[in-house]
Parts: sequence; structure tokens; C-alpha cells
Amino acid sequence: MDKTMDNVTAEGAVYFIFGATGDLARRKLFPALYSLYREGKLGDRFAIVGLARRPRTVEQFRNDVHESIREFCRYKPEEGAGWREFAERFTYHSLDIGNVEGMRRLSEATQELERRYEIPGNRLFYLALAPDLFGTVSRTLRDGGMLDSRGWHRLVIEKPFGYDYPSAERLNEEIRQVFREDEVFRIDHYLGKEMVQNIEVIRFANAFFEPLWNNNHIANVQITLAETVGVEERGAYYNKSGALRDMVQNHMLQMLTMIAMEPPSRFDPEDIRDEKVKVLRSIRTFASGDEVRRRVVRGQYTEGFAKGKPIPGYRQEDSVPADSTTETFFAARLFVDNFRWAGVPFYVRTGKRLPVKSTEIVIEFKNVPNNVLFARKQDLQPNLLVIRVNPMEGIYIKTNTKKPGNDMTIQPVAMEFCQSCLVGINTPEAYERLLHDAGRGDSTYFTRWDELAAAWQLVDPIAAAWRESPDDLAFYPAGTWGPEGAEDLLRQDGFRWWPVNGQEEDNVIWVTNSRT
Ligand code: BG6
Repeated sequence: MDKTMDNVTAEGAVYFIFGATGDLARRKLFPALYSLYREGKLGDRFAIVGLARRPRTVEQFRNDVHESIREFCRYKPEEGAGWREFAERFTYHSLDIGNVEGMRRLSEATQELERRYEIPGNRLFYLALAPDLFGTVSRTLRDGGMLDSRGWHRLVIEKPFGYDYPSAERLNEEIRQVFREDEVFRIDHYLGKEMVQNIEVIRFANAFFEPLWNNNHIANVQITLAETVGVEERGAYYNKSGALRDMVQNHMLQMLTMIAMEPPSRFDPEDIRDEKVKVLRSIRTFASGDEVRRRVVRGQYTEGFAKGKPIPGYRQEDSVPADSTTETFFAARLFVDNFRWAGVPFYVRTGKRLPVKSTEIVIEFKNVPNNVLFARKQDLQPNLLVIRVNPMEGIYIKTNTKKPGNDMTIQPVAMEFCQSCLVGINTPEAYERLLHDAGRGDSTYFTRWDELAAAWQLVDPIAAAWRESPDDLAFYPAGTWGPEGAEDLLRQDGFRWWPVNGQEEDNVIWVTNSRT
């Protein structure tokens, strides 16, 4: 990490959390701030201002923060003076975000905080709010004088960034009337995950992967983001969004770009993001509804079972219409049409109510030529490199070895480095990393506007084709791996989905630190 960026945190900042009484603040943001504080990453000069409409005294707010940290943080709150020192940095303002006068008062209170803690006017605005408020907040911040301080100003925002390309563009234009692109930090929390960040190291720091990372040696790439949960209390949001907008347009495509991008000329946020945009622009587009039908499978879960218990179908969930055609499962066969990847299918799938919670990326290598030694061996399995993103973190490689004995029997061996088994739960959370990066001004793991635009332009034709043929939806019982069509996407190329979540076939020997 560039030293000058580290110093920015040491200079200090005021962190403004809009939506401070909401779920995201409670579950993720306060715990992340506390972990950063405990690790000395906030420096000495910081203050945190909670903002929401609801009236709350500062004391009540500090109690809420304490409660949230006790429940969700990987560090337990210190007792006595230790806690008080942290808590006194928190203040709360009840604010109507459209009210410029209110913002002016906030601006005066902020100057007072900056004087007290010797903070040089750096201000980070985290909008844990519905996106249709982003434009209003940006304008009131400007008109209320909040952007007049001498330090830096950064806006951190959460998805969904629009519903399609035109709405995303409108949203972006509203924000850009106030903030420059380099002041906007768009969160995709998958980019904050340890193993997603590790992809760069695995690829670019290993002599035995880098030379093989192309269509001469890789047969296909499989990205699975499986969830066991349904839509819970988010039915109203999810029904408008579906898996395509909720997961594919952002998390899935971000993982794909990290796997497929060219080595950047420098490890600099802009160079890295330039390479990612090139990948997004190289993904083969969907020219017709027919092509969408051939290369994409969409499904919706019906009643089924999870851990032996019956669970309702999607259409029976709260706030979901009984005739909804929203997809809860998505699978596709994508191609990155550039020199490195021409001809290599990238299979992606994601869904709710699948049998396991697991995000994994499988790189399947091409088989060795069928030479004399192996001509009689039908069961030679391809080498795999598997990156385990979530909830288990680590990597494993699957190789072939000879079974001891006189006949030439081949034994597949999976050698695993289970990172989460080693460091346990004490690794930083995605939000922790991302808040820290935003505080330092490192935008590497945030989505730039052109990435976002390219991602929408890729998925919009899929959504359009589905609108034309709403009946083109397959169903799968909750607790299964989605519609059969998802298997066919690979079968037509002579491949299959590899099991995820360590559920490897019986004949594989595991060498792993997870079972020691
Ligand atoms: C969110 C989606 O972005 O990611 C949710 O809106 C989804 O629907 C979640 O459940 C998954 O994140 P994770 O980190 O639990 O895999």
C-alpha cells in the first residue's frame, strides 16, 4: 500500500453515517469502525456522526452503537475508560436530508468537532440509504456548506445503482453534479472479501499459474455463488430486482473480471480498473432473445426442503405476488472474446434456496494429451484450481498421482490451504476493509462508473429478452441445485459443474489443514 495513502488516515477524518438507525449501520458499519479503531487504523483524529430522521439523544445513540458492537463485531467492546474513549467520538444528529438549514447546523457542529480532535477538514459521507435519496443528499451537502472544508470529501454509496443502464446513468449524473468521479466510492462488498482480493496474488505472484492462465491451458471457468437463504423480509425489493440485478450485474461480474483481467501495468487503482473495464467490454453480448435462451437459464424456487424442514416457494414469500416471474436462480455460459480467453466458456450460476451456502471459483485445466501411458485410463480427471471465497476461505488444487502398487491406477489428490481454518473468525470483514480503503482514498476495490455502465449494458439485453417471454422461467424445488437447464449449459460442451463446498467425489484424497 502506498505510504501517502496510509498517511491520509493518520491525518484524520470525520465519518458521517447517513441512515445511522438502519440495519446496515447496526450490523456492518459500527462493528467495522470499532474493529478499525481497535487495530489503530482510524488514527487518533477521528469523529463519527450518526444521521437519521428519528430523534435520538447522543446517549441513546452511543448505547445503540454499543449494542451493535456487542452483537456483531469480531472485537467485544472494552470495559470502562477504553469504551468511553471510543464512544465519546460518536455524536448523533436528527436530520431531514432535504433540509439545507439542518445541513448548515451540521456544518457548524462539524467544525467544532474538527477543532476538538484536530481533524483537517477531511469528510467521508457514507450513505446507508435508498439510492433515490443519493442525489438529494449530495445537493444538500453542497448547499449546506458541508463541502466547503479544506480537506478531502468522499461519498461512499451502496448498491443498487439503478435498475438498468438508463436509470444508473441518471443516478450517476445527479451525484456527479456535486462530486467528482474520484470522490465517489461505490461499494460492491464482494470486492472487500479476503479471497476476492487474493485473486490478484494467486494469479500474479505464482510462477506456476501465470503461464497457464489462458485458453491454451484452461478448459473452462466456473463461478458459483450459492445461497441457502430465501428472500426473507426483502421480498418487495427482491421481486423488482431478481438474481440478475441483485447478484450478477455486480458480484458475479466483479469476480469474473478479477479472474479474466490482464495484469495491470502498475498496481494502481486506475490501472487495475482499466483492465477490469476491458474485460467487461470483451464479454460477448446477447444479440437476440434466442441467444439469451440458449446461453442463460433462469429459475424460481418452489416449495421444498432445507435440512429436512419444509420451506415455502418463492411465490408464497411475504410481499411476493402469487404470479411473480422474478428469477431467484441464474446461470449462464459467457465468453470473454479477447486473445487470452477466446473459446473458453465462463459458466456462472447463483441462486437462493440452493443446498449449500458457498461461493467458489473453479478453474478447470485442459487434459494432458491422451498419451500411451494414459490411453487406457478412462478416469483421468482434469486439474482444478479452486478459490473458496465464502464462507470457507482458501484455495485447493486437484492433481493426479499414482496409487501405490503395481498397476498404474491414478489417484486424484486435492491439496487445500484453508485460510479461514488458520486465522479463524478474526479476519477483517469486507466492510472493514472497504471503510479503511475509503478513508485512505484507495479506490481499487470500489466500482468505477465505466465498470458499472459496462455491466449494465451487458445484462440489460438479458432482462429485455425475459420481458418479451415471461413464461420462459424454469422452476426448481427449494434445496436443490436449480433447473436442469443449468447442467445442460455445461453438458453441451462436455463439462459438468464441479461440486462446491468441499463436497468432492469419494475417490479424492484430501490433504488439508482444515481437518488437523
Ligand atoms: C447482497 C444481496 O448484495 O449479497 C443479497 O443483495 C445476498 O441478496 C448477499 O444475500 C450475499 O452476500 P454474502 O456476503 O452473504 O455472500
